Amino acid sequence: MNAPSSNESSSQRLLVGVSGGIAAYKAVVLVRRLVEAGCEVRVVMTEAATRFVTPLSFQAVSGHPVRTTLLDAEAESGMDHIALARWADAVVIAPASADLMARLAAGMADDLLTTLCLATEAPVHLAPAMNRQMWAHPATQANRALLVERGVVMHGPAAGAQACGETGEGRMLEPGAIAEALLQSPARDLAGQRVVVTAAGTREPIDPVRFLANRSSGRMGFAIAAEAARRGAAVTLVAGPSALPTPAGVERIDVETAAEMQAAVESIESMDLFIGAAAVADYRVAEPAASKLKKTGEAVSLELVPNPDIIAGVAARAERPFVIGFAAETDDLREHAAAKRVAKGMDLICANEVGAGKGFDRPDNALLLLWEGGEHVLAQAGKERLATRIFDTYHQITQVSDDASS
Ligand code: CTP
Repeated sequence: MNAPSSNESSSQRLLVGVSGGIAAYKAVVLVRRLVEAGCEVRVVMTEAATRFVTPLSFQAVSGHPVRTTLLDAEAESGMDHIALARWADAVVIAPASADLMARLAAGMADDLLTTLCLATEAPVHLAPAMNRQMWAHPATQANRALLVERGVVMHGPAAGAQACGETGEGRMLEPGAIAEALLQSPARDLAGQRVVVTAAGTREPIDPVRFLANRSSGRMGFAIAAEAARRGAAVTLVAGPSALPTPAGVERIDVETAAEMQAAVESIESMDLFIGAAAVADYRVAEPAASKLKKTGEAVSLELVPNPDIIAGVAARAERPFVIGFAAETDDLREHAAAKRVAKGMDLICANEVGAGKGFDRPDNALLLLWEGGEHVLAQAGKERLATRIFDTYHQITQVSDDASS
């Protein structure tokens, strides 16, 4: 797990970007703080930043060579820029100059740092630093608003005396404050929220000893429940049969059939977030036999009747939570998942390919996240890491809709 678990220590992998500005020297202190807190830090500097501080300073505090150019054959043969973008749990740019913000807002990829920001799926944090008039300029403010709408997290700037001799808003936040925000923010961002997660497959009995089941292991749903609890939510995990241990701080309700899973979910009246990660059987045997069926030598057929759709029921509630579902597809992933999201009334769908060694009963997966007006492609990763990305996306979507309604 890569996000921090406490205020004191962290195992996050952070990519620190430094752009040109007098505040670049403060970024050396920021990197040192993050390394001291247990983060693994790689530094990327823009050309302009190297005029203010030498790459060697950052190499000394981060313990790794600093990258400054996109087309550096030697560096690319180690960890290329796409691998570096995927490696990061978060990107933090401090200081972020007006020029850098403009280039990010325009989606440019004219140097290594902007290219990484385009290529990464990780959250991007900016600590702007510039002259107060440059900060207040409508162009900069429009760039700031656009970046926030796209999910970029802003830290500052603060007001105070500036290097140019003026006083006003535009100073970079102190390194300690940026480090504290980075180390703490992911840890408790679901505090006060009531989260319900369904996980694993269901078992639909045929007779007292036989059942219909599927290949779901429950790993994804259990990882999601664990991550939600770590972020401070009150979590109820409604789990089909699974040998996995109950994650710390999670209340678990064990069920077997789809009907039991539905009853357990319905018994929870209020929730802020529902995540349907269970592989619920679409059908059950109409009348399971009371005694073990005997072999007759003849062909037999089972009458199957549809099960209720649990997630669609939650999405149809009068006071509905934010609803996240999954789609397991063997073909036409995007089309089927997009249609399923709308049909079931989900806010966000996490689609994955199954079959031929993919998806079920594996520790890792790749996901396509789709919501109204947006999508993320999450490359193959451990299910714990995917859980982190799902919650980051949830925050991105809800932050944007909060901004739009305020
Ligand atoms: N789901 C549910 N109740 C059901 C069936 C599915 O809550 N009876 C939820 C799953 O937990 C998942 C989503 O619906 O979040 C999609 O499940 P999936 O099996 O991919 O979709 P189906 O509706 O079963 O469609 P199909 O099998 O036709 O692809």
